[in-house]
Amino acid sequence: MMIKNLLHYLHLGLWELRGGPRFSSFKRSADEMRHVYSGRAVDLFFGNQGETIHKWPHYLPIYESVLGCLPPDIRFLELGVFKGGSMKLWREFFGPDATIFGIDVDPDCKQHDGKYGSVRIGSQDDGEFLRSVVQEMGKVDVILDDGSHVARHQRASFEILFPLLEDGGLYVIEDTHTSYWPSYGGGLRRRGTAIEFVKDKIDAMHRHYRKAGTNNSEDIPEIESIQFFDSIIVIKKKRQLARVTVMSPEIR
Ligand SMILES: C[S@@+](CC[C@H](N)C(=O)[O-])C[C@H]1O[C@@H](n2cnc3c(N)ncnc32)[C@H](O)[C@@H]1O
Repeated sequence: MMIKNLLHYLHLGLWELRGGPRFSSFKRSADEMRHVYSGRAVDLFFGNQGETIHKWPHYLPIYESVLGCLPPDIRFLELGVFKGGSMKLWREFFGPDATIFGIDVDPDCKQHDGKYGSVRIGSQDDGEFLRSVVQEMGKVDVILDDGSHVARHQRASFEILFPLLEDGGLYVIEDTHTSYWPSYGGGLRRRGTAIEFVKDKIDAMHRHYRKAGTNNSEDIPEIESIQFFDSIIVIKKKRQLARVTVMSPEIR
Protein backbone atom coordinates (compact mmCIF):
# COMPACT_ATOMS: atom_id res chain seq x y z
CA MET A 1 0.00 0.00 0.00
CA MET A 2 2.87 2.38 0.89
CA ILE A 3 4.53 1.70 -2.48
CA LYS A 4 1.24 2.38 -4.28
CA ASN A 5 0.84 5.74 -2.48
CA LEU A 6 4.48 6.60 -3.22
CA LEU A 7 3.99 5.88 -6.94
CA HIS A 8 0.83 7.98 -6.96
CA TYR A 9 2.58 11.03 -5.48
CA LEU A 10 5.64 10.54 -7.73
CA HIS A 11 3.31 10.50 -10.69
CA LEU A 12 1.58 13.74 -9.56
CA GLY A 13 4.96 15.34 -8.89
CA LEU A 14 6.14 14.50 -12.41
CA TRP A 15 2.96 16.02 -13.83
CA GLU A 16 3.56 19.24 -11.89
CA LEU A 17 7.17 19.36 -13.13
CA ARG A 18 5.87 19.03 -16.70
CA GLY A 19 3.91 22.27 -16.29
CA GLY A 20 0.53 20.95 -15.14
CA PRO A 21 -1.39 22.71 -12.36
CA ARG A 22 -0.12 21.71 -8.93
CA PHE A 23 -2.41 18.89 -7.83
CA SER A 24 -1.84 19.98 -4.25
CA SER A 25 -3.32 23.41 -5.11
CA PHE A 26 -6.71 21.70 -5.59
CA LYS A 27 -6.66 20.03 -2.18
CA ARG A 28 -9.01 21.34 0.53
CA SER A 29 -10.19 19.98 3.85
CA ALA A 30 -13.75 18.69 4.32
CA ASP A 31 -14.31 21.43 6.93
CA GLU A 32 -13.46 24.16 4.39
CA MET A 33 -15.82 22.76 1.76
CA ARG A 34 -18.81 21.30 3.63
CA HIS A 35 -20.89 24.53 3.45
CA VAL A 36 -20.09 25.41 -0.17
CA TYR A 37 -22.54 22.92 -1.75
CA SER A 38 -25.86 21.59 -0.58
CA GLY A 39 -28.13 18.63 -1.23
CA ARG A 40 -28.59 15.00 -0.28
CA ALA A 41 -25.40 13.66 -1.92
CA VAL A 42 -23.45 16.51 -0.30
CA ASP A 43 -24.88 15.64 3.14
CA LEU A 44 -24.01 11.95 2.67
CA PHE A 45 -20.48 12.76 1.54
CA PHE A 46 -19.60 15.25 4.29
CA GLY A 47 -21.49 13.26 6.93
CA ASN A 48 -19.54 10.11 6.09
CA GLN A 49 -17.85 8.58 9.14
CA GLY A 50 -17.07 5.24 7.48
CA GLU A 51 -14.73 4.22 4.68
CA THR A 52 -13.00 7.14 2.94
CA ILE A 53 -14.58 8.53 -0.23
CA HIS A 54 -12.40 10.58 -2.56
CA LYS A 55 -14.45 13.01 -4.68
CA TRP A 56 -14.31 16.54 -6.02
CA PRO A 57 -17.30 18.03 -4.15
CA HIS A 58 -18.63 19.90 -7.20
CA TYR A 59 -19.57 16.43 -8.57
CA LEU A 60 -22.11 15.86 -5.82
CA PRO A 61 -24.86 18.25 -7.03
CA ILE A 62 -24.29 16.91 -10.55
CA TYR A 63 -24.87 13.37 -9.32
CA GLU A 64 -27.96 14.49 -7.50
CA SER A 65 -29.36 16.06 -10.67
CA VAL A 66 -28.63 13.10 -12.98
CA LEU A 67 -29.04 10.13 -10.60
CA GLY A 68 -31.43 11.53 -7.99
CA CYS A 69 -34.69 10.51 -9.67
CA LEU A 70 -33.84 6.94 -10.66
CA PRO A 71 -36.05 4.07 -9.43
CA PRO A 72 -34.97 2.41 -6.15
CA ASP A 73 -34.28 -0.98 -7.79
CA ILE A 74 -31.56 0.50 -9.99
CA ARG A 75 -28.61 -1.70 -11.07
CA PHE A 76 -25.45 0.29 -10.63
CA LEU A 77 -21.88 -0.64 -11.56
CA GLU A 78 -18.91 1.45 -10.45
CA LEU A 79 -15.45 1.00 -11.94
CA GLY A 80 -12.97 1.84 -9.15
CA VAL A 81 -13.66 0.85 -5.52
CA PHE A 82 -10.59 2.29 -3.71
CA LYS A 83 -11.40 2.31 0.05
CA GLY A 84 -15.02 1.25 -0.47
CA GLY A 85 -16.41 4.65 0.59
CA SER A 86 -18.14 5.46 -2.68
CA MET A 87 -20.03 2.13 -2.56
CA LYS A 88 -21.26 3.17 0.89
CA LEU A 89 -22.32 6.55 -0.52
CA TRP A 90 -24.21 4.91 -3.41
CA ARG A 91 -25.93 2.44 -1.06
CA GLU A 92 -27.15 5.31 1.11
CA PHE A 93 -28.05 7.39 -1.94
CA PHE A 94 -30.03 4.69 -3.82
CA GLY A 95 -31.32 2.69 -0.84
CA PRO A 96 -31.59 -1.02 0.04
CA ASP A 97 -33.32 -2.17 -3.17
CA ALA A 98 -30.51 -1.11 -5.52
CA THR A 99 -28.10 -3.70 -6.90
CA ILE A 100 -24.63 -2.23 -6.48
CA PHE A 101 -21.48 -3.75 -7.93
CA GLY A 102 -17.96 -2.34 -7.91
CA ILE A 103 -14.92 -3.60 -9.76
CA ASP A 104 -11.28 -2.81 -9.10
CA VAL A 105 -7.95 -4.15 -10.31
CA ASP A 106 -6.57 -4.01 -6.75
CA PRO A 107 -7.12 -7.35 -4.93
CA ASP A 108 -7.19 -5.44 -1.58
CA CYS A 109 -10.62 -4.13 -2.60
CA LYS A 110 -12.05 -7.63 -2.19
CA GLN A 111 -12.30 -6.86 1.56
CA HIS A 112 -15.24 -4.55 0.72
CA ASP A 113 -17.23 -7.30 -0.98
CA GLY A 114 -20.64 -7.75 0.63
CA LYS A 115 -20.52 -4.59 2.78
CA TYR A 116 -22.46 -2.14 0.63
CA GLY A 117 -22.59 -4.16 -2.55
CA SER A 118 -20.61 -6.77 -4.45
CA VAL A 119 -16.96 -6.26 -5.37
CA ARG A 120 -15.25 -8.14 -8.15
CA ILE A 121 -11.55 -7.97 -8.94
CA GLY A 122 -10.36 -7.39 -12.50
CA SER A 123 -9.36 -4.71 -14.93
CA GLN A 124 -11.68 -2.22 -16.53
CA ASP A 125 -10.24 -3.01 -19.96
CA ASP A 126 -10.84 -6.76 -19.70
CA GLY A 127 -13.90 -7.52 -21.84
CA GLU A 128 -14.41 -11.06 -20.64
CA PHE A 129 -14.28 -9.96 -17.00
CA LEU A 130 -16.66 -7.01 -17.47
CA ARG A 131 -19.15 -9.10 -19.42
CA SER A 132 -19.13 -11.73 -16.65
CA VAL A 133 -19.84 -9.03 -14.03
CA VAL A 134 -22.79 -7.64 -16.01
CA GLN A 135 -24.07 -11.18 -16.53
CA GLU A 136 -23.94 -11.72 -12.77
CA MET A 137 -25.82 -8.43 -12.22
CA GLY A 138 -28.53 -9.57 -14.63
CA LYS A 139 -28.70 -6.13 -16.23
CA VAL A 140 -27.10 -2.74 -15.70
CA ASP A 141 -28.82 0.66 -15.68
CA VAL A 142 -25.99 2.96 -14.64
CA ILE A 143 -22.25 2.60 -15.15
CA LEU A 144 -19.85 5.01 -13.45
CA ASP A 145 -16.23 4.93 -14.60
CA ASP A 146 -14.12 6.14 -11.66
CA GLY A 147 -11.29 3.70 -12.34
CA SER A 148 -7.77 4.43 -13.61
CA HIS A 149 -8.79 7.59 -15.53
CA VAL A 150 -6.27 6.56 -18.17
CA ALA A 151 -7.58 7.38 -21.66
CA ARG A 152 -7.18 3.93 -23.19
CA HIS A 153 -8.91 2.30 -20.18
CA GLN A 154 -11.81 4.77 -20.28
CA ARG A 155 -12.28 4.08 -23.96
CA ALA A 156 -11.99 0.29 -23.62
CA SER A 157 -14.56 0.22 -20.80
CA PHE A 158 -16.95 2.39 -22.78
CA GLU A 159 -16.67 0.20 -25.86
CA ILE A 160 -17.22 -2.99 -23.87
CA LEU A 161 -19.91 -1.76 -21.48
CA PHE A 162 -22.04 0.76 -23.39
CA PRO A 163 -23.57 -1.97 -25.59
CA LEU A 164 -24.49 -3.89 -22.40
CA LEU A 165 -26.30 -0.96 -20.81
CA GLU A 166 -30.10 -1.11 -20.65
CA ASP A 167 -32.17 1.10 -22.93
CA GLY A 168 -32.66 4.35 -20.98
CA GLY A 169 -29.46 3.71 -18.99
CA LEU A 170 -26.69 6.16 -18.16
CA TYR A 171 -22.95 5.87 -18.77
CA VAL A 172 -20.96 8.28 -16.59
CA ILE A 173 -17.25 9.01 -16.91
CA GLU A 174 -15.74 10.79 -13.91
CA ASP A 175 -12.55 12.87 -13.66
CA THR A 176 -12.41 13.67 -17.37
CA HIS A 177 -9.96 16.49 -16.57
CA THR A 178 -7.38 13.71 -16.93
CA SER A 179 -8.07 14.03 -20.67
CA TYR A 180 -5.81 17.10 -20.45
CA TRP A 181 -3.09 15.45 -18.37
CA PRO A 182 -0.25 13.80 -20.32
CA SER A 183 0.48 11.31 -17.57
CA TYR A 184 -3.01 9.84 -18.15
CA GLY A 185 -2.63 9.73 -21.93
CA GLY A 186 -4.21 13.19 -22.25
CA GLY A 187 -3.46 16.53 -23.89
CA LEU A 188 -5.55 19.33 -25.37
CA ARG A 189 -7.48 17.93 -28.40
CA ARG A 190 -5.44 14.74 -28.22
CA ARG A 191 -7.19 11.95 -30.14
CA GLY A 192 -8.44 9.03 -28.06
CA THR A 193 -9.00 10.83 -24.76
CA ALA A 194 -12.42 10.51 -23.10
CA ILE A 195 -13.27 14.13 -23.96
CA GLU A 196 -12.30 13.62 -27.60
CA PHE A 197 -13.93 10.23 -28.18
CA VAL A 198 -17.17 11.44 -26.60
CA LYS A 199 -17.07 14.56 -28.80
CA ASP A 200 -17.12 12.11 -31.74
CA LYS A 201 -20.29 10.59 -30.27
CA ILE A 202 -22.00 13.96 -30.77
CA ASP A 203 -21.58 13.37 -34.51
CA ALA A 204 -22.86 9.80 -34.09
CA MET A 205 -25.99 11.09 -32.33
CA HIS A 206 -26.67 13.37 -35.31
CA ARG A 207 -25.85 10.80 -37.97
CA HIS A 208 -29.27 11.12 -39.73
CA TYR A 209 -28.52 14.69 -40.71
CA ARG A 210 -25.09 14.07 -42.16
CA LYS A 211 -24.20 13.88 -45.80
CA ALA A 212 -24.47 10.36 -47.23
CA GLY A 213 -21.23 8.46 -46.88
CA THR A 214 -19.95 10.43 -43.87
CA ASN A 215 -21.15 7.97 -41.24
CA ASN A 216 -18.72 5.37 -40.00
CA SER A 217 -19.06 1.92 -38.55
CA GLU A 218 -18.15 3.14 -35.04
CA ASP A 219 -21.29 5.28 -34.88
CA ILE A 220 -23.49 4.09 -32.04
CA PRO A 221 -27.16 4.44 -32.95
CA GLU A 222 -28.52 4.46 -29.40
CA ILE A 223 -27.41 7.76 -27.91
CA GLU A 224 -30.17 10.07 -26.71
CA SER A 225 -28.09 12.74 -25.01
CA ILE A 226 -24.57 13.67 -24.04
CA GLN A 227 -23.94 16.03 -21.15
CA PHE A 228 -20.54 17.55 -20.55
CA PHE A 229 -20.03 18.88 -17.03
CA ASP A 230 -16.68 20.06 -15.69
CA SER A 231 -14.89 16.70 -15.33
CA ILE A 232 -17.99 14.50 -15.70
CA ILE A 233 -19.59 13.19 -18.87
CA VAL A 234 -23.06 11.61 -18.81
CA ILE A 235 -24.25 9.69 -21.87
CA LYS A 236 -27.84 8.49 -22.00
CA LYS A 237 -28.52 5.36 -24.02
CA LYS A 238 -31.86 5.20 -25.80
CA ARG A 239 -32.88 3.67 -29.07
CA GLN A 240 -33.61 6.63 -31.30
CA LEU A 241 -37.02 6.62 -32.98
CA ALA A 242 -37.22 7.76 -36.60
CA ARG A 243 -36.26 11.42 -36.91
CA VAL A 244 -39.02 13.16 -38.88
CA THR A 245 -40.62 16.60 -38.93
CA VAL A 246 -44.36 17.03 -38.51
CA MET A 247 -46.78 19.97 -38.81
CA SER A 248 -49.75 19.91 -36.47
CA PRO A 249 -52.27 20.75 -37.69
CA GLU A 250 -51.07 20.02 -41.19
CA ILE A 251 -51.03 22.97 -43.63
CA ARG A 252 -52.66 21.74 -46.84
C1 LIG B 1 -10.20 7.19 -7.94
S1 LIG B 1 -10.09 5.62 -7.17
C2 LIG B 1 -11.80 5.18 -6.98
C3 LIG B 1 -12.43 6.04 -5.95
C4 LIG B 1 -13.76 5.58 -5.46
N1 LIG B 1 -14.71 5.34 -6.54
C5 LIG B 1 -14.26 6.71 -4.56
O1 LIG B 1 -15.03 7.57 -5.05
O2 LIG B 1 -13.86 6.75 -3.39
C6 LIG B 1 -9.58 4.68 -8.55
C7 LIG B 1 -9.56 3.17 -8.35
O3 LIG B 1 -9.40 2.59 -9.64
C8 LIG B 1 -8.63 1.44 -9.52
N2 LIG B 1 -8.04 1.09 -10.82
C9 LIG B 1 -6.89 1.54 -11.39
N3 LIG B 1 -6.69 0.96 -12.57
C10 LIG B 1 -7.74 0.12 -12.78
C11 LIG B 1 -8.11 -0.77 -13.82
N4 LIG B 1 -7.36 -0.92 -14.91
N5 LIG B 1 -9.25 -1.47 -13.69
C12 LIG B 1 -10.04 -1.34 -12.59
N6 LIG B 1 -9.74 -0.51 -11.56
C13 LIG B 1 -8.61 0.21 -11.65
C14 LIG B 1 -7.60 1.77 -8.44
O4 LIG B 1 -7.11 0.58 -7.85
C15 LIG B 1 -8.41 2.66 -7.49
O5 LIG B 1 -8.93 1.91 -6.41
